[in-house]
This record gives sequence, structure tokens and C-alpha cells, in this order.
Amino acid sequence: MKNKSAQPTQVPRPLISPFANKAVYVISKNMDEIESNLPKHVGIIMDGNGRWARSRGMHRVAGHRQGAKTVDMVVTACRKRGIRFLTLYAFSSQNWSRPSLEIKALMELLAEYVRRERQKIMSNNIRLTAIGEIDQLPESVRAALQQLMTDSKDNTGMTLCLALSYGGQEEIVAAAKQLCARCTSGELSINDIDNDCFSNALWSSALGPVDLMIRTSGELRLSNFLLWSCAYAEFYFSDKMWPEFEEADLETAFSAYASRNRRYGTVGK
Ligand code: FPP
Repeated sequence: MKNKSAQPTQVPRPLISPFANKAVYVISKNMDEIESNLPKHVGIIMDGNGRWARSRGMHRVAGHRQGAKTVDMVVTACRKRGIRFLTLYAFSSQNWSRPSLEIKALMELLAEYVRRERQKIMSNNIRLTAIGEIDQLPESVRAALQQLMTDSKDNTGMTLCLALSYGGQEEIVAAAKQLCARCTSGELSINDIDNDCFSNALWSSALGPVDLMIRTSGELRLSNFLLWSCAYAEFYFSDKMWPEFEEADLETAFSAYASRNRRYGTVGK
């Protein structure tokens, strides 16, 4: 497998924005000059909202609300840093089993996030996408999401992907079903199915392989997130709860990544 991270990082186009506020970054330098070993695709399992809140005597929902502020921070920081793809695990297929009040609060936070961050996403040339069973989401979330996904589809600075009602096993099963249907209709032959063909059938195909997977809260597992795409991902685990994760922690994760020797099953350099 080719090391996609070794490819030159595309230069984010300079931004000339009518919005003269600090949310707009003027990035005109070739990012390769600044950082040559930056992950192209970063995934984040934003864990620990509930524990952060409970340890302060607050309701779990307060933890999610605080966690949404950390989302703002990482999106801003990753865009500024020249990350090409950022995928956030915002709601898993299994999260539907949580108490209905918590699900409702999370859906409201998501809709609010998309509305609130609209200007920042557009003026920073960020493309918003989503993976998962989006049709399972409440109409209010789907409509806001769909609108911003459409409006930002030509943005090229960074792709921000929200994994919503998402499960890695569910994604693989959906891809297998799609390929079976194409074989049954005669459009595809079984012998044509290889790793690339399978990758192209995944919801996350446009994002490419994950280079760096970050998980907060001290838990050391993947929890059904981007299973296929993490085949050769580097992992970074932080003991901090998601609401207390800071830009400096993200930088530490990038530094850890830069020091790794990725061999992809070979003997390396
Ligand atoms: C896991 O922590 C976190 C989630 C299931 C939801 C993540 C949601 C947000 C960060 C806020 C909204 C998202 C966006 C994109 C605006 P947990 O609740 O399982 O924590 P615990 O393990 O401590 O209980």
C-alpha cells in the first residue's frame, strides 16, 4: 500500500474574506515547508463528555455541550494547521441505545453546531460532509446538515466529516450489500472485487485511509469507528476527557505522529 501521507500536502488557497474577524486564517505558505510529516486524514473519538460532567456534579448533557466547544477548537486548529480530512465520531449507531433525553440533547447540539458554525465553515473554505445512516436523524438535523453540505461542497481547504448514526461494521455490511447487488445485476463480476473496489463502496471512500486516530478519556479501543480505513492508522490516546482536550494536546498528538515509522507491513526505510 502506498504511503498517501508521504504525498505533498496540497496548499490551502489563500483566503481573502470580507469577514475581517479572527475566525479567518490567511494561509499562503506551502504547508510542506512548515510541517512535512502531518497526517492527511485525522479521526477523533471524542470520548469522556459524560464522565467530565458527572465528576463535576453536572448532567451528562452539560458534558456534551462543553464537548461541542472542543469541536470548534479542533476544527479551527486542524484547518489552521493544513489537515486535509478531519472525521469526528459525533454519534454512533450504538448511541441510539442511550436515554432518550440524552439523544434529544445531542441532536439539538448537532443542529445548533451546524447553524452556528456556518459562517466559519464557509469563510474558511471548509467542506462539510457526513457519513452514517443520515436518514435516521431527526428532520431538523438532516435539513441543517444537508443545506450546509450542499453550500460547502466546492470548498477545498479541508473536509470536515461528521460520523452520525455511524458504525464501522454497519459501513462494511452496507458496502458488501451494494457490491452483491451489483454482481447480481451483472454490472460487476466477483473477480473485480479487490481492496480498491471495496474501499470505493464504503460511505467513507472519499476520505481515504486514516493516518492518525485520536481518542480521549483514557479508553484504548476503536469502538466501531472507521474499521476499514484504520487498517494502517497510527493511534494516539489522551487521558484527558474530551471537554478538557486543548490545542496543545492536539499538537502533542501531531508530534507523536511525526515521530512514528510507518511501515505498512514492509521492513521500512
Ligand atoms: C462520547 O462521550 C461522546 C459522544 C457520544 C458524543 C460526542 C458529541 C459531542 C462532542 C458534542 C456534539 C458534537 C458536535 C459535532 C457539535 P460519552 O458521553 O460516551 O462520555 P463517557 O464515556 O464519559 O460517558
